[in-house]
Order: sequence, then structure tokens, then C-alpha cells
Amino acid sequence: MVPKTTAARHGMDAHSYRALMRHQAGAVTVIACGTADTRAGLTATAVASLSDNPPTILACIQRKAGAHDLISSVKSFSVNVLAGDQQDIAERFAGRSGTMGSDRFDGLEWITLQSGAPVLSRALASLDCELIDRHEFTTHSIFIGRVLDGKFRSEAAPLLYFRGDYWDIGTR
Ligand SMILES: Cc1cc2nc3c(=O)[nH]c(=O)nc-3n(C[C@H](O)[C@H](O)[C@H](O)COP(=O)(O)O)c2cc1C
Repeated sequence: MVPKTTAARHGMDAHSYRALMRHQAGAVTVIACGTADTRAGLTATAVASLSDNPPTILACIQRKAGAHDLISSVKSFSVNVLAGDQQDIAERFAGRSGTMGSDRFDGLEWITLQSGAPVLSRALASLDCELIDRHEFTTHSIFIGRVLDGKFRSEAAPLLYFRGDYWDIGTR
């Protein structure tokens, strides 16, 4: 059988795609950027390691997110992998608690490492990144960050997102 060309293939609609992808359990992160009053951040699961030499990470961020343009201008960001007991932080940075912009950072402890981006002090692990590349694709951009510094809490367990819900898998 002759394979169909790309144009002739029907493909999958967005709803069916989401129905598949919700089965991919993923770490929940908060991506944060900026300084002082011009901070922005969002909850993101579309984050992956790109390379260990040099240490690089990629993050897929929708263009309409408040952090999108700020990361591009300040050229640094942090990726904070959330711990099992930080679901409230995930909800806040996903905009589900009604808190917007730099107000999302209130009441949490933030530090800076090498890049100057805000780093969540009590995250399970944090990667401090310098933006080195950006690729645009339809509604999203892929941000590539060189990891300059980081820290982790070896006693904490991760928060996972699976089938539309948060899972605290606890310590094994
Ligand atoms: C579990 C979860 C994962 C998400 N992952 C991403 C992601 O990888 N990239 C993205 O752009 N938005 C993601 N979002 C949506 C953003 O967190 C949300 O749209 C946020 O409000 C964007 O920030 P804004 O309010 O400044 O636009 C995710 C939301 C949730 C709840």
C-alpha cells in the first residue's frame, strides 16, 4: 500500500490528542522569571532535559502566557520541580486561584542563584537557567536554557500530574 502524503492524511484533532496525552504522567514545575515587581511565572509540565553536556533544558510555553515575553527580554528563568505537598502552588501558577502576574509570588520564599531569576526555595529541585535559544511553533515557543546552577531537597517526593489530576506519590 502506498503511504498517504502528509496533506492526504486526516490526522488527529486537538481533543483526541489531549485524551491521549493525559495518560503521560509528568512532573509539575513552576517556571519563573524577572526581578522585583516584574516577575512572572506559570505552571508547566512540558519541560524536559535536552542535554547534559552542556547542561540544557527545554520548556514549551504558550505565547500568551505572561512569562513568555519576559523570559525573552530578561534572558533567564528558573524551572522549579514541585514537591508532593505543593499542589496549591501549582494551582496558583496555573492561574486557577485568580492570582495574576507578580502577585503569584507573594507569601512564598524566593532566592536567586547565578542567573538572577527567582528560584522557589522549597521546591523539590530547581534549575537556574540562562536563555540560549528560542524556537517558535504556532501557539507556543520552545525555550532552551543552559543550566547554570541548581539545588534540590533529597528528602522530598515529587508532585505528578496524571489524567487531569495531581498525585502526591509520597516517599518510597
Ligand atoms: C498541570 C498543568 C500543566 C501545564 N503545563 C503548561 C505548559 O507546559 N506550558 C504552558 O504554556 N502552559 C501550561 N499550563 C498552563 C499555564 O500554567 C497557565 O495557562 C498559566 O495561567 C499561564 O500563565 P498566565 O496566566 O500568565 O498566562 C499548565 C497548567 C497546568 C494546570
